[in-house]
Amino acid sequence: MTELAGVGFGTRAIHAGPPPDSATGAVMMPIYQTSTYVQDGVGSPRDGYDYARTKNPTREALQQTLASLEGGRHAAAFSSGLAAMEAIFKSTLRQGDHMICGQDVYGGVDRMLRLVWSGLGVEFDFVDSSDVDAVRAAIRPNTRLIHVETPSNPTMTLTDLAACAEVAHSAGALLTVDNTFASPFLQRPLSFGADVVMHSTTKFINGHSDMLGGALVTDSEELADAFGFQQRTAGAVPGPFDCWLALRGAKTLHVRMPVHCSNAMRLAEMLAERNDLDSVRYPGLTSHPQHDLARRQMDDFGSMLSIDLGSNERAERFCGSLRLFQLAESLGGVESLASVPARMTHASVPAEKRARIGITPGLTRLSVGIENVADLEHDLNAALAT
Ligand SMILES: Cc1ncc(COP(=O)(O)O)c(C=O)c1O
Repeated sequence: MTELAGVGFGTRAIHAGPPPDSATGAVMMPIYQTSTYVQDGVGSPRDGYDYARTKNPTREALQQTLASLEGGRHAAAFSSGLAAMEAIFKSTLRQGDHMICGQDVYGGVDRMLRLVWSGLGVEFDFVDSSDVDAVRAAIRPNTRLIHVETPSNPTMTLTDLAACAEVAHSAGALLTVDNTFASPFLQRPLSFGADVVMHSTTKFINGHSDMLGGALVTDSEELADAFGFQQRTAGAVPGPFDCWLALRGAKTLHVRMPVHCSNAMRLAEMLAERNDLDSVRYPGLTSHPQHDLARRQMDDFGSMLSIDLGSNERAERFCGSLRLFQLAESLGGVESLASVPARMTHASVPAEKRARIGITPGLTRLSVGIENVADLEHDLNAALAT
């Protein structure tokens, strides 16, 4: 790996990972599109390259880059964010164990816990992780894991990572953090004491909405071994081309994120001045109840914001009238997207729970892209006027 001690985030984004290809000098990591490798003798793979599920150079380059960006020692890439999440659960939970999960995590995580892991004898509680006392009160003798997402999807609620790490560790449990919404450019959970950072690399890491992937980053040798075991044993690994797309995206994360953030801030301020919205949720607004925590924990406030249009009917009319923002699930790409979580990303969350945690029928999530902000502003205002 290139020696990068003490260099900045952008330099690591571009130079972390292996040096130029030794055979050809190729500046960019090649796409090693192979499923297997020739061995020098029976049972003698070169550098452990025996089969692509176990090891692939393009995947390793991505893993090294992600570890460097998160300030961790190890990373493991998976075929999707949910596959990465599942690898955490499989590595850390056994029948009879208890887990605490933030109450407004990505809908797919909620669904996996309720419909898969509960059937396997794992106990779990969904808790408002913005309230550290509630997290502490939910600890049981068999609690092994606390999983949180901050900022959360789609209510933009923050969790105090240092406080949660302290609660987890004093109970002998691990803290895992979904850092997808912030990206490592804005927030590095390991530095606040988290044990594992999880990403849907589908989002900001890739940044161009053209692949699906997930990743786990940790400082722990033991967890890194467990995640490697999941890669080769369960096999939910990303293909080399998807790794290459994520790697290419990661190299410009530090260029894209400041534009995402400044566009989102300007739109949030503009939306907050209107009097026809029930709420505007963006951690960068001083009106956000956890704005101070956002300032402490994040380097900027991100590109995600939610507005409440009061009813599903108005939310649908608004989304149908947008011209630049496209109605689509997902987030974190260069293009701006809008979605209505109650009917889309969080439709699998029970209606009673959606109502309780603030995923109202009119809540509309915006992933602000890096287009010219005046055009985005015009698009939102025109759609709100309909
Ligand atoms: C915050 C968050 N975490 C995890 C996931 C799941 O990732 P993937 O779709 O790559 O499986 C998503 C997907 O939207 C997400 O928004």
